Amino acid sequence: MDLQLIGVHVLLTGASGSIGLVTARLFLTGETLLIFPIWLKECGANVTAHYNNTVVTLEPLHREFGHTRIQTAQANLSREDDVLRIFHTLKDDPFGPVQVLIANHGWHPKPEVPIAEMSLTQWESTFASNITSVFLVVREYLKQLAYATDEQKDKAFIVILGSTVGKYGEIGHADYSATKSAMMYGSTMSLKNEIVKIAPRGRVNFIAPVLTPAAEHSPQRSEAFHRALATIPLKRVATLEDIASQVVFVASTAVSGHVSGQVIMVDGGMEGRLLNQPEDITRR
Ligand SMILES: NC(=O)c1ccc[n+]([C@@H]2O[C@H](COP(=O)([O-])OP(=O)(O)OC[C@H]3O[C@@H](n4cnc5c(N)ncnc54)[C@H](OP(=O)(O)O)[C@@H]3O)[C@@H](O)[C@H]2O)c1
Repeated sequence: MDLQLIGVHVLLTGASGSIGLVTARLFLTGETLLIFPIWLKECGANVTAHYNNTVVTLEPLHREFGHTRIQTAQANLSREDDVLRIFHTLKDDPFGPVQVLIANHGWHPKPEVPIAEMSLTQWESTFASNITSVFLVVREYLKQLAYATDEQKDKAFIVILGSTVGKYGEIGHADYSATKSAMMYGSTMSLKNEIVKIAPRGRVNFIAPVLTPAAEHSPQRSEAFHRALATIPLKRVATLEDIASQVVFVASTAVSGHVSGQVIMVDGGMEGRLLNQPEDITRR
């Protein structure tokens, strides 16, 4: 099956992070898609790989694919001037206008802080990193899309990376969870109706993964990891490849051209989080 992504310009935010790096490689080659090898040669998009502080993780991809297939773009996406700068630079880009936007960047504050103890500074900073930044990137993407050709617009697609916490919440992370919920429902459902005014075949979807195995090894995350795993029938969390492959499949107009406004849970059938042990239920 042909994903028809060859030569499509993909802007991948947060490409320097863990999910971003695997997704970037998959868009470039299909190489990590080992379970569906027939699709390997049908990727081949051109990728603008965004980073904020960590360009070093992108260097191997740059060396491997060179400037004709991948370019990097630095920005703190919470800052309007940075986002405007990126899109201004991309205006006359050899890759052409951005057709596919993967809004993957995100910030998960490490310490668990109950709402009763959360500072306004933390709340606002999490919203700036996770939701204001997505608003700014999406807005500029849509503006530049208006000037694309009809053929380029036919591949128009936005995916926003969220999390299962947008559906279930997470103790100690109400700020992060709230940003993901807002984009999962309000933003995605509005955007799917707005994009078609600019690109009649444009689509918007939201991907909500359950935490990746890397989170298991973080001491702060291990308890949350087990609480989450207790309600997953498949008894494992998502791998980076589980997430990246969904991003690429849904970005392909050829295979997902009638899929829009969907929240795609990459969660192994998760039902939420274990809250109480049997002894907790009898105790009041
Ligand atoms: N990993 C998980 O367990 C998990 C589970 C569910 C959902 N998710 C979601 O999946 C997405 C990717 O997660 P990940 O695990 O790959 O995260 P990660 O490894 O921590 O990487 C985060 C990426 O976002 C960028 N970033 C963060 N804040 C930014 C800002 N204000 N402006 C610009 N860039 C910013 C970082 O840039 P620099 O590093 O270059 O500064 C980095 O590229 C996120 O939206 C996250 O919420 C992750």
